[in-house]
Amino acid sequence: MRKKADTSAKTEEKAKAGTKGRKTTAKRESKKTVERAENVPAAGTDHSDEFQERLARHYDEMKWLYCELYRDGEKAFEDLCKNLKGLYDARKESLKELDRHREQNPSWYKKNDLLGMMMYVDMFAGSLNGVREKLDYIEECNVNYLHLMPLLETPEGRSDGGYAVADFRKVQEKLGTMSDLENLAQECHERGISICLDFVMNHTSEDHEWAVRARRGEKEYQDRYFFYDSYDIPAQYERTVPQVFPTTAPGNFTWLPEISKFVMTTFYPYQWDLNYSNPIVLNEMIYNMLYLTNQGIDIIRIDAVPYIWKQLGTNCRNLPQVHSIVRMMRMICEIVCPGVLLLGEVVMEPKEVVPYFGTVEKPECHMLYNVTTMATTWHSVATRDVRLLKYQMDIIDSLPKEYVFLNYLRCHDDIGWGLDYPWLGQFGTREVPHKKYLNDFLTGRYPGSFARGELYNEDPVTGDARLCGTTASLCGTEKAVFERNKEAIEEAVNFDLMLHAYMLTQSGIPVLYSGDEIGQLNDYDYHNDPNKWEDSRYLHRGKFQWALAQMRDREDTRQGKLFQGLKKMEQIRASHSVFESDAQVRTVDTWDDSILGLIREKGEEKLVALFNFSEYHKMAWIDEEDGIYVDLLSGREIEAKGVRMAPHGCCWLLRKRG
Ligand code: GLC
Repeated sequence: MRKKADTSAKTEEKAKAGTKGRKTTAKRESKKTVERAENVPAAGTDHSDEFQERLARHYDEMKWLYCELYRDGEKAFEDLCKNLKGLYDARKESLKELDRHREQNPSWYKKNDLLGMMMYVDMFAGSLNGVREKLDYIEECNVNYLHLMPLLETPEGRSDGGYAVADFRKVQEKLGTMSDLENLAQECHERGISICLDFVMNHTSEDHEWAVRARRGEKEYQDRYFFYDSYDIPAQYERTVPQVFPTTAPGNFTWLPEISKFVMTTFYPYQWDLNYSNPIVLNEMIYNMLYLTNQGIDIIRIDAVPYIWKQLGTNCRNLPQVHSIVRMMRMICEIVCPGVLLLGEVVMEPKEVVPYFGTVEKPECHMLYNVTTMATTWHSVATRDVRLLKYQMDIIDSLPKEYVFLNYLRCHDDIGWGLDYPWLGQFGTREVPHKKYLNDFLTGRYPGSFARGELYNEDPVTGDARLCGTTASLCGTEKAVFERNKEAIEEAVNFDLMLHAYMLTQSGIPVLYSGDEIGQLNDYDYHNDPNKWEDSRYLHRGKFQWALAQMRDREDTRQGKLFQGLKKMEQIRASHSVFESDAQVRTVDTWDDSILGLIREKGEEKLVALFNFSEYHKMAWIDEEDGIYVDLLSGREIEAKGVRMAPHGCCWLLRKRG
């Protein structure tokens, strides 16, 4: 690799009824869509002005933002509007019907009936057609929101897991074709499943046509990236811009000896940053995005969005221009494909994340990752201390209910320790030794640790590092399986279930990481692959173990216990309105720092949820009035006072009516 330039559940029955209800809802949506689509020509509902009406609604604000970003941008703006009409015209009638349906039900993604799963197509089923064949399994997992990891053309060995796109309109050959993707999306819609795809807009692969032409010396294409003849300006950037991959790809620029120029590469050297101060770049990338939504993609995950605008003298993150672009993307989707949702990938501290929702009047992203809660969860696992988690959940729960978060335990990326250190400071916790403790504990180096993970991008200068590993391995399953310790396996599975229960209790959309539903362990094979061995994120990007998935119905296996346990919880969640995103949520004191207590209330329903993050028997010293509660998970009836908790146990206490 070329070097960078820089040196530097009530009862089971009820639960089942719940799923049916949920699936019917999901199917209802698509069924309606089909019915309506069939009605269109006969009933003659006139939608001919639809595009113009939507455009008119947003035209002034869009033009204003566009021309503020691009002086003399009027011509480019008119080009954009003309092409939006073309892309609207090219959109299939069935998708337009879905758009209209969702436009009339703008809260369609804010209930308790969505459950996500993210997966690599090749790791899960080899190809897009393979995924299609496995849709029954996906439905069995109660999943109706499928995030397919990057699947567009990318050079082998220089792909960053597909995040270096060489052609935004071509599927990787090994995975299939664009029409396979379209067919998969269509079948998913028929089953009430929405599809999410990454839109990697910060950069292209160095093999993308634009980059190839830029490398050939075509000025027009060099202007779509950041090219410099000398290191003067790159050196100035390096003074203020942090590094994303300090070990695997240090620095933010790459030297191109064949043309004696530097190119900006914030991520890997083969990922060239696009220059959005050039309006052609924005327009062309918008057309690429709409090309994908026209294939039937429902959710666009805007990859690495905080990075898309660069300005000398800044850290090139979260600049105001980024928000103008995201706001324009939102309006553009509302004009061309209003059924499509924008999911922002903003892996930043909370104060930088929330602004990506925009305002209630001028929204930007529909959904954002609840990244801080995710990282804090693993801090709580390692410390058995939930105080920071509690503090953060109170902040998240005080945000407007319009804001929808994606909740997750693990994803394809590492866990970065973006914790609220100033807050932790009050207990004497200091950042450097604390991160070291977390990393030591979660990699299993700390004496007595049950976790098995690996470090990621250990920075030799700062001693900083992030962390990789699957949920099951981090919860102790890997160690227990290795030691053939039945009791420890059982405890690890309970822990895994507790963490998922806690994720399912949060407001928003829970997203499972494919393989977690059967407790898949770390995959060390990447150590032997020269294209991957530098990047420990591959530790948790292993092949889906279909042989182990076969055990999912057998509750005497760890896979079965986990799969069935999860299924039950998902069904309970979908059948109680108290889990809807707009429920009132607050934390409750349990008088034990290792037990998290959450209360959700909606209408008549009140739920007291308790999670024991320690390996000890404990008592949650809550004192809720209102009589008898039913633990939806165990079925036992108790008062919500002084609740006994098993090691790593949890309960969902629902107040009994009457
Ligand atoms: C996002 C992706 C990550 C990738 C990066 C660069 O953060 O989640 O996997 O490395 O963008 O595209």
